[in-house]
Amino acid sequence: MKTALITGATSGIGLAFAELLAQQGYGLILHGRNVRKLSELSASLPNVQLTLAADLSCSDEVTVMIEQLEQVKQPIDVAINNAGFGLYGKHTELKESDIAAMLALNVSALTRLSRYFAERMAVQGSGHILNVASTAGYQPQPYFAAYAATKAYVASFTEAMALEMKSSGVSMTCLSPGRTDTGFFTFEGKDDAKSGTGTFSAKHRAHPQEIARLGLKAMFAEKLREIPLFENKFYVFLNRLLPRTTMLSIYERAMKNI
Ligand SMILES: NC(=O)c1ccc[n+]([C@@H]2O[C@H](COP(=O)([O-])OP(=O)(O)OC[C@H]3O[C@@H](n4cnc5c(N)ncnc54)[C@H](OP(=O)(O)O)[C@@H]3O)[C@@H](O)[C@H]2O)c1
Repeated sequence: MKTALITGATSGIGLAFAELLAQQGYGLILHGRNVRKLSELSASLPNVQLTLAADLSCSDEVTVMIEQLEQVKQPIDVAINNAGFGLYGKHTELKESDIAAMLALNVSALTRLSRYFAERMAVQGSGHILNVASTAGYQPQPYFAAYAATKAYVASFTEAMALEMKSSGVSMTCLSPGRTDTGFFTFEGKDDAKSGTGTFSAKHRAHPQEIARLGLKAMFAEKLREIPLFENKFYVFLNRLLPRTTMLSIYERAMKNI
């Protein structure tokens, strides 16, 4: 039985990855922060081999998780670096500690885990790594300034590293979803799912299962990048047509009152 590891598997897109890979017969190593959610998942999904609880915004906990993974002797065939979150608001009004946690999770933990899985899979001679970025990584986004920058990092880093790994049997793919209906939108006082208005309202969001399905398809096809769904591809393509300053002011207006 092949094994897949997913970070942030306790909800949203990560949970959808876990469900789809379970259907495909993978044994699962599931990561999350919340121990209760992890044990419920382990009871509800088939073939959960191991659960790992770690706050990946804390570098010591990333170290402990890597040590735990060293005890897993069978090959890890698929690793999905999915855990991440976004801080919405004017950068000067965000809490310094929250910004640091977001950078540590979205950038530092993903960078360390990518290195760990790539080295391990290169020894095996095979494996797939899928890193979750965002369409937000394709242009600067006022009120999502640091979050969008973390996702630009994920896209740039993953695509560059993928080429370094080319002859090792290890593929790396960057998945950049747009608005997707998950727990991501629980910004303080800003979840407009019920009102149905605003840029991020529920009616504009994709289904996480669909995003995960397209992400897995791209990963198994060993594509360098996947921007799932036409609408997301269209917005990313606009960056090539319109000047950066025009895109910035479009996003400034769209993001100010979400
Ligand atoms: N939803 C969107 O519109 C959207 C769009 C583009 C990209 N993305 C990206 O997709 C990925 C998955 O997000 P989602 O939309 O599925 O959101 P979600 O439903 O909020 O899920 C986030 C997952 O990440 C985990 N996580 C959060 N903070 C963590 C931390 N400090 N340490 C370890 N795990 C942590 C959570 O674990 P616990 O619940 O156990 O704490 C949860 O499993 C993220 O990288 C996000 O940036 C989302």
